[in-house]
Amino acid sequence: MSTTTIPPARYVRGRIKVPGDKAISHRYAIIAALAAGPSRLSNYAPGADCHSTLACLRALGVSIIEDGTTVTVMGRGLGRLAPPSGPLDAGNSGTTIRMLSGVLAAHGFTSTLVGDESLSRRPMRRVIAPLESMGCRIDSRDGCPPLTIHGTTLTPITHVSSTPSAQVKSAILFAGLHTQGTTTVVEPAQTRDHTEQALRAFGGTVRVEDDGRRVSIDGPQALSGQQLAVPGDFSSAAFWMVAAAARRGSRVELEDVGLNPTRTALIDVLRRFGARVTIEPLGESAGEPRGTITVEGDRIGRLDIAPEEVPGLIDELPAVAALAGHGAEISVRGAAELRVKETDRIAALVAGLRALGIAADERPDGFVAGQAGRSTVGAGPADARGDHRMAMAFAIAALAGQSPSQIVGADSVVISYPGFFDTLGRLVA
Ligand code: S3P
Repeated sequence: MSTTTIPPARYVRGRIKVPGDKAISHRYAIIAALAAGPSRLSNYAPGADCHSTLACLRALGVSIIEDGTTVTVMGRGLGRLAPPSGPLDAGNSGTTIRMLSGVLAAHGFTSTLVGDESLSRRPMRRVIAPLESMGCRIDSRDGCPPLTIHGTTLTPITHVSSTPSAQVKSAILFAGLHTQGTTTVVEPAQTRDHTEQALRAFGGTVRVEDDGRRVSIDGPQALSGQQLAVPGDFSSAAFWMVAAAARRGSRVELEDVGLNPTRTALIDVLRRFGARVTIEPLGESAGEPRGTITVEGDRIGRLDIAPEEVPGLIDELPAVAALAGHGAEISVRGAAELRVKETDRIAALVAGLRALGIAADERPDGFVAGQAGRSTVGAGPADARGDHRMAMAFAIAALAGQSPSQIVGADSVVISYPGFFDTLGRLVA
């Protein structure tokens, strides 16, 4: 396990481009594989997770050519993936395993999806139950991977879920895409709608009602290959937005970032916190708004995150927690889902912040962290527990240190942001 040292920084300044969006890249690759004809996807996310999706698709007979971050996918057409000759490895990626489960449930062969140690502990009943109610059978190890999917011709369902999850919604929509009739997902709150936007971009039709909480698809639908450009990843940009908000005198400009309103709750949160956040819109492509974000640090205060804000901020909460290192008091409620991410993010954040000398306490559904005016002490080590977003959050908290801080397992950033530490080195002063 590698240890990385983060020196203190006075401020962050610069203009950068963050990598392509992870959530959108997964969807474009999967839908391109199901479409007829080739698709050219530019600015495809460079992290390991989106490459796990490509590896699984290749093992399902899809021919894919990579040229830097441009990926060309030779679509096989709907329902035409080939039986794999061995287990499909989703690596660390929950999005890969859950979304592909929906696709494979509708293919008339048996396939097994496996993952790394972290993924093998994550809950899959949330996709197994609705997909089995459509008619397939899925074997699991007590509701966790490996998943063996006995695919078949499915029947449509209306699935009413109690936990908002875009991965679950997408798995069911992908199953419904292949299935005769109308499949509907009803969620308690709207989740990211990249799947809905992407299906439309490939020529599909999706019906969205009730402020985005009710989504229906009439299957089967034939899709066709496209040329699409993936916007920058807002969840990666979030770490620089928080760093700039936290250090007075900072100014970062983040070029061409995806600004899908289901993902951008952090903008309002940082404004409420006192940061100046400005957006230069760059229009929309394939239903995804994009723009250049500028954040300037101002004052440091208290920040309460309410349960209703959580779905629009779920992947940015580790970045928000990093503000606690910079003299802010943070309170998060209604975020129990953090416990079933790549690691138990509530436990990992609290332990890591404490290791950096920051007061932090767990709640069943969130955490409190930081004390007004008290910054990171430094030293550590803070253990990322193999979770990319923990590593980046601790690095941003460590910028406030009185001495250099150590992070264990910082190499996990390769999951979503391979160049994170190089960029950090360029931005800090
Ligand atoms: C994702 C949805 C969210 C998010 C994850 C990516 C997606 O997970 O936390 O990082 O791409 O659909 P849930 O669906 O479990 O909420």
